[in-house]
Formats: sequence, C-alpha cells, structure tokens
Amino acid sequence: MAARAEARPALHRPLSPRTSFRRAVPRRSAKVRPSADRVDRIHRIDQIDPFSSADNGSPKIFSAPGAPEPGGEALIVVGGRRLSGTVAVSGSKNASLALLAGALLTRRRVALRGVPDIGDVRQMLALVESLGAAWEWRGGCLQVCAAGLGARSRPHPVDDAAARSLRASFIAVGPLLARTGVARMPLPGGCAIGPRPVDITLAGMRALGARVAVDHDSGWVEARCDGRLRGGNVALRLPSVGATQAVMMAGALADGRTVISNAAREPEVVDLAGMMRKMGARISGPGSREVVVDGVGELGGASASVRADRIEAGTLMAAGAITGSGIRLLGIEPENVAATAGLLERMGCGVARGEAGGLAVVPGGELLGADVVARPHPGFPTDLQPVFAPVMAAARGRSSVRDAVFEGRWAHAEQLRRMGARISVRGDTATVVGRPPLGGRPQLKGAHLEASDLRAAAGLVVAALAAEGLSIIHNLHHLDRGYDGLDRKLASLGAEVYRSAEWAALQPGSTESTVQPGL
Ligand code: EPU
Repeated sequence: MAARAEARPALHRPLSPRTSFRRAVPRRSAKVRPSADRVDRIHRIDQIDPFSSADNGSPKIFSAPGAPEPGGEALIVVGGRRLSGTVAVSGSKNASLALLAGALLTRRRVALRGVPDIGDVRQMLALVESLGAAWEWRGGCLQVCAAGLGARSRPHPVDDAAARSLRASFIAVGPLLARTGVARMPLPGGCAIGPRPVDITLAGMRALGARVAVDHDSGWVEARCDGRLRGGNVALRLPSVGATQAVMMAGALADGRTVISNAAREPEVVDLAGMMRKMGARISGPGSREVVVDGVGELGGASASVRADRIEAGTLMAAGAITGSGIRLLGIEPENVAATAGLLERMGCGVARGEAGGLAVVPGGELLGADVVARPHPGFPTDLQPVFAPVMAAARGRSSVRDAVFEGRWAHAEQLRRMGARISVRGDTATVVGRPPLGGRPQLKGAHLEASDLRAAAGLVVAALAAEGLSIIHNLHHLDRGYDGLDRKLASLGAEVYRSAEWAALQPGSTESTVQPGL
C-alpha cells in the first residue's frame, strides 16, 4: 500500500509539540511548601546535624553515598504526628496513561481533565510526542492531538528512553498498529516488581492478524499488518490490564468484531472504554470478563475526565489507619476502593461514605492483624499490598499477604525490617507479626530507607508516619513517578515531612540506621 501522509486537522491554535509541561502547568517547587506555622519546624530541621551523636550516646554512623542520584531528594518524615482534615485525591495515574495511549487512535483532538502532574505522565507525554502527537496543557486540561502520527506502514520514531521507562508504553502497540499498520516499540520497563512479560498483548495482536517479531537481543518488538486488522476471538491467558487495553484499542479500528474473553475488569479498562466510546468506538462489556468491540473505520476526538486514583486513595487510607487518625478523602468513589475498605474494616478501622461524596477513615482503637490476597480487580489491589504491609506491621497479631498478581513484589520487606517490622517472605506470601505500640510508644523505629519502586516508596512513607523518630527515604523519584504531591497532601493533614537534596546525600553506615534527631 502506498504511504500516505495524514493531513493535520484544523485547530483553533496549533498545539505546539514543544509546549513545555512546566510552562503550561503552574510551576510547583519540588520542595514541600511550608505553611507559615511550619517554618519554625523547618528551620529546626536545618539545624539537625546528621553527623552528630545520637541521643543514646552512640555515634550515628553515616557514610558518603556510593552513587548519589544527581539532583535527587530524600523525604524526611518525623513520625508520630496525628493526621486530621480533608484532602482531595488526584486523578488516576494508570487511567491517565491509558487515555494518553487512546489519544493515538485519532487524528482529532482529545481533551483530558484531571490528569495528575507526575513523572509517569511526563514520560508518556514524551512518548506520544515522539510518535508525532502534539500536546498542551490549557488550565487543568491536557489536550493531545495525534494528527502527526507516522504515515501508514512506515515505522514511526519512538522515544526509546521514555518507552523503556514505562510499562504503559507498550499498550500503544494497539493504537499504532490499528492506525498505521505498524508498531515498533521497545520492550517496556516500569517498576521492578518481578517479571512483566508482554506475551499476552502480542498474542492478542496476532489474533487480530498482525505479524509480530520480537528481537530479544535489541529488546525491540515489531508488529505489522497489511491493510486493516481483522476482528477475532482473543482469549487472554491472564486478565492482564495492559493486554485488555491494547487489544480493545486495536479492535476498535479493526475490520469486524473482536471478543476479548478473560478480560481485566479494572476501572482503568472501563475508563479507557468510556473515552473510546465518546470517540465513536463500539464497545460493550468493559468491566466484565468479556469485552466485545465492533471495529469502525475512524475515530473522532473526545473530552474525558480522569477519575480519582484508587491507589492514592488507598495509600491515604493506610496513612490514616496507621496513625490512628480520622481523615476525609474527596473525589474518590467508595465503590472503587471497596476491597481496600474491606481490609481496613477487618483490621478494626472504620471507613464511612462521606456526606458530600468521598469517604472518611474512622479509627476504631487498636489495629488488628488480618490476612489478605492481592488479586485482579475487584480483589484487593496488588499496588496496595506494599502500602498495607506497614499497617500490618504496626497492628496487633499476625497477618499474611499473598500477592497473586506479582509474586515477587517484596522489595519493601527488607526496608520495613530496618524499622523493626517482623516480616518474612516465602514465595508469593509475606507473614507479618505485628508490633503494635507499647505503652503508647510505637515499636516501629525511624530509619534510613531506600525506595525500590513506586508502591514500595509509598509503603515506606506510610510506615515512617507511625514510626518513632525520624526516617529518611531515599530514591524519591520512585514516589514522584506515580503520586501527585503525596508528601504535600500528608503535610496538609498535619504530617511532618520535608524534602531535602542535602539529606539525600547521606547514607546509613552498616551498624546504625536508626536516626533519633531529638526534635
Ligand atoms: N502478564 C503476563 N504477560 C503479559 C501481560 C501480563 O504474563 O503479556 C502478567 C504480569 O506479569 C502479571 C499479570 O499478568 O503477573 C498482570 O499484569 P497486568 O498486565 O494486569 O499489569 P499491567 O497492565 O502491566 C497494570 C498497572 C500496574 C498494576 C497492574 C495490576 C498500569 C500502567 N500499570 O500493569 O500498576 O499493578 O496493572 O493491577 O496500568 C502501579 O501503578 O504501581 C502498577 C504497577
């Protein structure tokens, strides 16, 4: 088929592909902005000499970091503060990433409200931009126009680094293949939480008529089709979120009907289908085990709002529970966090529906251990098991967590042990023997901690909120990949948290990792 350049649609004002994220979004300092009444506390933290002797008289042993992250910051958390108040939950990371991939399905403009200002969104924007899409923030609305997507059948350029840094990059294979007949994409990265193959997505593309070649040496995948993809039956080996989204997008522009069985039921699939329907796609059954897509010739533009992030909400719920605090969350639909609320209730902490929407965490005295299995939606989310492990570590009694989605997602366990948590991992299951506060004093102790991935970072923040003394959490860029100002939100609820580049340059010595600043 002859290559044909696609015409750009007329826009009121052309979107500049070079529009900088920073320029268009009100610039926020990387540091937590102190409110007036917290300036004094920040002043005091500046006066702490991390090289001085600890309260107990034994020297604190710090060593220079082996490889400090250039420009990196550490989060300093002073544990033991009670939280209170109300906070609004930001838009969903994973829904936003899927909707940005969905914007590649059309030459028309897609307008997205509620997209969070986080690292992964910036990477996804770099990716779609490299593929030929222009984007721009207008107020709180992210506008994307993929009119410039490569001509049909010609391999498109792709920001290798951005694509490899994200798992969600790979779902772009679906719209690229459907719209241009060719998708060339590096094998994706994302959080280091165990093996994350792409075989299910590729099997789905093959089922729709694509020829797929994987070059494991270079780490690139190329999928091609002659003419349009053709609809087909796609039975997923596992209910993969990414594969469901990629096949749904590919099927939307395919010839005929695509039936996805054993589909993922996560809200992020429903959200993508919702936007695609507005674009003119014919999809039924999203959110159920079977999704049916009837292909159309072309999709148009759409406006969509990203709903609140259920994982951020769950993280804030964990923060409320572990600190014994009553807090209110705005924007989150309680149905979206039902499994999380169920776990908290079994642990003795109430969750109430908010009067004006949202929900409230209602502490109910002592936290109790509980068993939970992380499963695909509507089960308890795997993304929250590292966040709830510290809640279990501070509860009375024994808990167990099995992760049936990512069985190797346990990097946080060793870090929690540094804080005194009793947590052991065997295969896909962690056993936690709780250490509840004794005589009103927490048994978890502040420590130097290293975040290994996004949700592990969030779990360490939650643990540090309830630990005695001060914790320093390194590798904060993991947290910033997926949370829109979690520290800022916690500070607004009364937590004592600070960002510091100077403190990021400190690392614990081998014998003393607990920091007692004597604040
Ligand atoms: N899997 C395969 N082959 C595939 C695809 C998946 O074996 O081709 C396996 C995975 O290894 C995993 C299971 O299937 O064991 C489920 O993975 P899934 O494809 O559902 O996950 P994903 O689409 O890669 C999304 C979220 C993750 C979240 C999981 C599960 C995005 C960008 N990521 O990943 O979010 O943990 O679904 O709910 O949507 C996070 O936000 O921290 C995060 C990791």
